[in-house]
Amino acid sequence: MINGLREWADRYRGRGKFTPVGVTFHWFMAAAVLYQLVSGWAMQRYLAGPEKLEAYRLHSEIGMTLLLFGALRLLWRLMVPGPINDADNAGWRSKLAYATEGLFYALFVILPLSGWTLWSAIQPARPLSLLGLVTVPAMPFRDISPEWQYWLLYVSEIVHVGAVIILAPLVLLHTIAALKHHFWDRDDVLEGILPEVPDNQWHPGGPNYSRPGESSHPPS
Ligand code: HEM
Ligand code: HEM
Repeated sequence: MINGLREWADRYRGRGKFTPVGVTFHWFMAAAVLYQLVSGWAMQRYLAGPEKLEAYRLHSEIGMTLLLFGALRLLWRLMVPGPINDADNAGWRSKLAYATEGLFYALFVILPLSGWTLWSAIQPARPLSLLGLVTVPAMPFRDISPEWQYWLLYVSEIVHVGAVIILAPLVLLHTIAALKHHFWDRDDVLEGILPEVPDNQWHPGGPNYSRPGESSHPPS
């Protein structure tokens, strides 16, 4: 089965592109990570009350969904590697790009696990729901002493916020590098991760284009 998947993926990799599965993972998770950064920052500023609790719950549930998708994505990436493209030229930039991607995967685990610990140490801890389908219980901290609960809260907050401090500049660096590849180096790196739009050659200038009012010539 893995060989079949790789053969299918080679049709994209051969053209320097990630597969549609890889592209969907990338943009879905990029949007979710950005949402998490903004919602995490914003929810701290709410006044204590039901709205704040609801914001914490939503942030935590989307974060846990990221843990699930991060694991599936890693599995996918191990089975189906990305394309070889201009980002793979030998040199420190390519090494930096790979280190950044590796760190992203590590953070996709560290952030949700530290967040889950944080959520579970705030009493009374409630279960979380993944996409409304699966219920994830809080970690079993209810019966431990208040000193230990406080310690867990303290340590997991340091880890969570520390991971955010690493993630935010990495996202910026990664985005600037992708835009530099596209607009400065004019290579194929950004196109590799963009969804493919089939070119049916009906665009202005294409062989099948006709001006409004003229008859069109459908391909035989
Ligand atoms: C990629 C995933 C995640 C990102 C990027 C993220 C980001 C953030 C950010 C930016 C903050 C605000 C930090 C601050 O200003 O002090 C925060 C706080 C928080 N996050 Fe996350 N988070 C993620 C996953 C999770 C998960 C999975 C949970 C819970 C299951 C969670 C629970 C919390 C809680 C409870 C706080 C509040 C901490 C406090 O009040 O001190 N987070 N997160
Ligand atoms: C929170 C935001 C983002 C995260 C966490 C993220 C993460 C990743 C990861 C882990 C990869 C490795 C490929 C994979 O395993 O799927 C990757 C590749 C890539 N990303 Fe992002 N990304 C983000 C945002 C962006 C944005 C905004 C852009 C473009 C403006 C971008 C452009 C690219 C490109 C071009 C590649 C392919 C690099 C190559 O061919 O080696 N990413 N990204």
